[in-house]
Amino acid sequence: MEKLPAIEIQPAKGRLGILTPGMGAVATTFIAGVIAIRKGLGKPIGSLTQMGTIRIGKRTEKKFPLIKEFVPLANLEDIFFGGWDIFEDDAYQSALKSGVLEKTLLDQIRPELEAIKPWPAVFDKRYVKKLDGSYVKQARTKWDYAQMVMEDIARFKEEHRLDRLVMIWCGSTEVYLKQQDVHESLEAFEKGLKENHPGIAPSMIYAYAAIKMGIPYANGAPNLTVDIPAMVELARETRTPIAGKDFKTGQTLMKTIIAPGLKARLLGLHGWFSTNILGNRDGEVLDDPESFKTKEESKLSVLEYILQPDLYPDLYKNFYHKVRINYYPPRGDNKEGWDNIDIFGWLGYSMQIKIDFLCRDSILAAPIVLDLALFLDLAKRADFSGIQEWLSFYFKSPMHLPELYPEHDLFIQLMKLKNTLRFMRGEEQITHLGADYYDFYK
Ligand SMILES: NC(=O)c1ccc[n+]([C@@H]2O[C@H](COP(=O)([O-])OP(=O)(O)OC[C@H]3O[C@@H](n4cnc5c(N)ncnc54)[C@H](O)[C@@H]3O)[C@@H](O)[C@H]2O)c1
Repeated sequence: MEKLPAIEIQPAKGRLGILTPGMGAVATTFIAGVIAIRKGLGKPIGSLTQMGTIRIGKRTEKKFPLIKEFVPLANLEDIFFGGWDIFEDDAYQSALKSGVLEKTLLDQIRPELEAIKPWPAVFDKRYVKKLDGSYVKQARTKWDYAQMVMEDIARFKEEHRLDRLVMIWCGSTEVYLKQQDVHESLEAFEKGLKENHPGIAPSMIYAYAAIKMGIPYANGAPNLTVDIPAMVELARETRTPIAGKDFKTGQTLMKTIIAPGLKARLLGLHGWFSTNILGNRDGEVLDDPESFKTKEESKLSVLEYILQPDLYPDLYKNFYHKVRINYYPPRGDNKEGWDNIDIFGWLGYSMQIKIDFLCRDSILAAPIVLDLALFLDLAKRADFSGIQEWLSFYFKSPMHLPELYPEHDLFIQLMKLKNTLRFMRGEEQITHLGADYYDFYK
């Protein structure tokens, strides 16, 4: 395949601010993790930007640079953290309460964590029914709230002399919202902000503020937020990369690892029953049926798209798929996810697969937050804007153009991500054909 010229990418010089609306379990595990890694107290396991390599050129060339050396990424030393929450706890207190990382680790980085204090949130209980918090902004309209978020960001940027910013939503899952007229265009959306339209959730106010300022935005929850034409329009207008939605961790990660394998070997599926117990605040929020509906939509679509029942009716037509999440406080952040998978093979003979994944939700999510922040900052410096489909690898419900179907297969997603990095650097795309090594067609 022909080499293309490399894309001009601004260097990752100076300081990068990472903004997280929501400073709960995921955000503090991420923040404390980066600080601990900087001090040599742990390793960035699970992070492609920190540990991943990329093959360049032919296999015979044996070139496998680290991704962070192949593309110019921000250095962990240059990162600063800022965020909002409806609780006033600083990052140390919030991390302690989240119960993910051990106190002995948190105590070693306590001053750094205590210095990270959230700003009051844009919050409305109608969108997250299970939460009550008093640390919230007061304004007359949603438009005014957006201005206040922009002021917080500008102040943070100045205080820490930041050169660039990214925003990663680590807040709660909101109630299910459907796309409606107010989301159809930027004009309608801005009018809706001024008129306090109920179709505009708090998460959209943060996202609007960020994208308006040209700050890349990733949506870690299944909320509708930037998955609407108004936000895509704004992102194109301000040349801002956006990505979403819903971090791919736990059970869905397993699903997108296993389902492509079953399909590759043309094994059929009768049913896939998934159930989870978890006891963190996220679990409590998802105990509300309206927030659960948002999550359920995000989790269910995965198998349909990977298995393509229309193309393989004998294997995947009418398979039964159920996902349950049960709030069970004793487990805290240590989720347990069970999958029962009824498959069939040669001549229709049935088989079963059982998975019992004792995972740690936020331990799986933290490296995703880091990678998204660094890759979105890279995308911005490469002048990429709008939907960044190459970051689908990190999401349960990847954003895509309306005329395309989303790609859920983890391995295709990884190939797409790495090929995008090769594209940025003007290196050959890797097709895995291998015709250069074997003269099999002569
Ligand atoms: N942990 C995972 O593996 C995982 C995977 C996929 C998605 N997610 C999503 O990531 C999000 C964060 O998960 P978590 O485990 O950290 O939850 P969490 O409940 O510990 O943290 C969320 C925080 O957001 C705050 N919040 C809620 N609404 C807010 C608002 N409008 N503005 C500012 N702060 C607000 C809450 O007070 C809370 O502190 C959730 O939406 C969750 O569904 C998590």
